[in-house]
Amino acid sequence: MRRHEWVPLEVIIKKSKLPEKDVLYRLKRLNKFGFINRSIYGYAVSFAGYDALAINALYKKGILKAIGNKLGVGKEGDVYLVLLNNDKETVLKFHKHGKTCFTRGKRYREYLADKHHISWLYVSRLSAETEYKILNELFPLVKIPEPIAWNRHAIILGKVNGEELKRIDLSKFMSKEEINNLFWNIFEEIKKAYKIGYIHGDLSEFNILFDGEDFVIIDWPQAIYKEHPEADFYLKRDIENLVRYFKKYKINLPSVDELIQKIKE
Ligand SMILES: Nc1ncnc2c1ncn2[C@@H]1O[C@H](COP(=O)(O)OP(=O)(O)O)[C@@H](O)[C@H]1O
Ligand SMILES: [Mg+2]
Repeated sequence: MRRHEWVPLEVIIKKSKLPEKDVLYRLKRLNKFGFINRSIYGYAVSFAGYDALAINALYKKGILKAIGNKLGVGKEGDVYLVLLNNDKETVLKFHKHGKTCFTRGKRYREYLADKHHISWLYVSRLSAETEYKILNELFPLVKIPEPIAWNRHAIILGKVNGEELKRIDLSKFMSKEEINNLFWNIFEEIKKAYKIGYIHGDLSEFNILFDGEDFVIIDWPQAIYKEHPEADFYLKRDIENLVRYFKKYKINLPSVDELIQKIKE
């Protein structure tokens, strides 16, 4: 699929080194399971098929033992609770670009300038790889999920307790002073990430999990390096989102520009 959007049957027969009738039999079964799609041009792996390949690889490596409930369906992918071979409960996040929304996928076009067709498969894999690499650079210095493993478009992350800030009304159980402290603690993490070199790029109340005491900043695939030409734009947007959320609780905060100044100093 690196070369074709739809892989012609002849190519599959050649690559598989199997007789045509065996290839047809297997393709039919894969199609029945929903692991591949078919068109007049040939065959293509489906998201379910790509999921199965990643799960199989993580299982064979002796990392993954069992898959549990779906935790959330995010903008770009699905997150499941999983059990590792060492009995640790963690999460498996599948990156799925091009499934429902392509806006973030656009950001990958610069990597793909030399490719004729932008395959969702390639973009999803690249996105998972990028998030895994960035998490490795930031963990454990910044409060983010622990990166555990990566295969294709899937990454395994430490399980974080709590819910998205979006779904919590802080004023119900926290004083203004405590909410103010929470803001500054989150701000401190953004500052640390910036010092290491990264701007989150999609920071909002959807990507901060909070359990009533502690928080973790999730969802880093679109993070950009601070030397990126558009870095200031994304940093400003992140800070604006954070300030907008906390302003709801009527706490006193410096201006966005002052906060950006503090991050850069
Ligand atoms: N490490 C984690 N621990 C627990 N829940 C998580 C974790 N990572 C993601 N989730 C859940 O899955 C949802 C989607 O994950 P996220 O990384 O934000 O991806 P998306 O790009 O789809 O928004 C989150 O809002 C959260 O509810
Ligand atoms: Mg998210």
